Amino acid sequence: MNQKNIIIAFLVSCSLLLANGQLDYYYYYSFCPNLEMIVKYGVWAAMKNDTRIAASLLRLHFHDCFVNGCDGSILLDDTKTFKGEQNAGPNINSARGYEVIDNIKADVERACPSTVSCVDILTLAAREAVVLSGGPNWPVALGRRDGVTANLKAANTNLPSPFEPLANITAKFAAVGLDIRDVVVLSGAHTIGLAQCFTFKNRLFDFKGTGQTDPNLDTSLATSLKTSCPNVDSSNSNLNSLDLVTTYKFDNAYYKNLVNNAGLLESDQALMGHPLTASMVKDYSMYPYLFYKDFATSMVKLGNIGVITGQNGQVRKKCGEVNR
Ligand code: HEM
Ligand SMILES: *[C@@H]1O[C@H](CO)[C@@H](O)[C@H](O)[C@H]1NC(C)=O
Ligand SMILES: *[C@@H]1O[C@H](CO)[C@@H](O)[C@H](O)[C@H]1NC(C)=O
Repeated sequence: MNQKNIIIAFLVSCSLLLANGQLDYYYYYSFCPNLEMIVKYGVWAAMKNDTRIAASLLRLHFHDCFVNGCDGSILLDDTKTFKGEQNAGPNINSARGYEVIDNIKADVERACPSTVSCVDILTLAAREAVVLSGGPNWPVALGRRDGVTANLKAANTNLPSPFEPLANITAKFAAVGLDIRDVVVLSGAHTIGLAQCFTFKNRLFDFKGTGQTDPNLDTSLATSLKTSCPNVDSSNSNLNSLDLVTTYKFDNAYYKNLVNNAGLLESDQALMGHPLTASMVKDYSMYPYLFYKDFATSMVKLGNIGVITGQNGQVRKKCGEVNR
């Protein structure tokens, strides 16, 4: 160790001893120095096998943080006596990536047993997913502790639905301390990944009970979506790109799509329906680096929601279950 590292290690030890309940960029510096490399490798390997997994990990982090804060609660598996969040409406047959986090956790446990929380691993994995998809990077302060419970009811009520109006979605973001800009910026996560037909099919065949196609959906996109999502229940789980242009690339094409009436979800296209959010969308469609900068800022806010620190909570041994 050179002198600078010794000084940093000393400061880190002090902050650990004080356990002052704040997140810290050097939290695992002494006891799990390779953490970020292990997570990066785990996400990279998972993406090599399944391109979509980057999007799924980013969404998993979001669905964790919106329900009782970022506490790894979404990772807890159901048991006979415990009903967690994985079977909540927005998650069931939809949220994915649990095994990737479990695998990374196993690697991290081998390197640094009982040191790193599952929620910190998920937070880092979401960041790596964005970086490895070509998006922005940002520093992640660490030291979140895993919760000891989950909240099925909150998972059903706090997570936004693609069928609710922007005002309702904004209210759900405000409830966790995020503002209207965060809504527009974080919706940009839909620049990667897929959505099932049932999440937007009403726009194709029966928009607001009219029996018509949503007038705010580009006609040629509507035609092609009708092919992949025919008007029968059996098409409900067929998959479609949230960003048809660059489905697995983290770029600003999502916003360009919205400007062209080519947003997939009604809640996406709704961002063009209000002057304030529409002007943000237009800015991000023109200035990718503005989007990257603001996305990084909003992701830090997302990752800080309701975190458990200090002596509270625990460091789970396995992400799917609380320690006995
Ligand atoms: C603003 C309100 C939001 C609504 C209404 C919404 C809704 C949805 C829906 C319906 C899907 C498709 C799920 C499925 O078909 O199984 C989806 C996918 C996705 N969402 Fe959101 N979302 C919102 C915000 C966010 C935020 C804030 C993030 C992350 C920062 C995010 C990241 C993603 C990603 C990456 C996917 C693709 C996942 C995959 O391919 O596995 N979403 N979202
Ligand atoms: C590869 O991806 C598929 C599809 O998501 C998944 O079912 C499978 O478990 C993955 N395999 C490995 C080794 O991660
Ligand atoms: C939007 O919020 C209002 C007020 O909370 C609620 O009455 C309404 O049902 C919500 N709309 C949808 C579509 O969820």
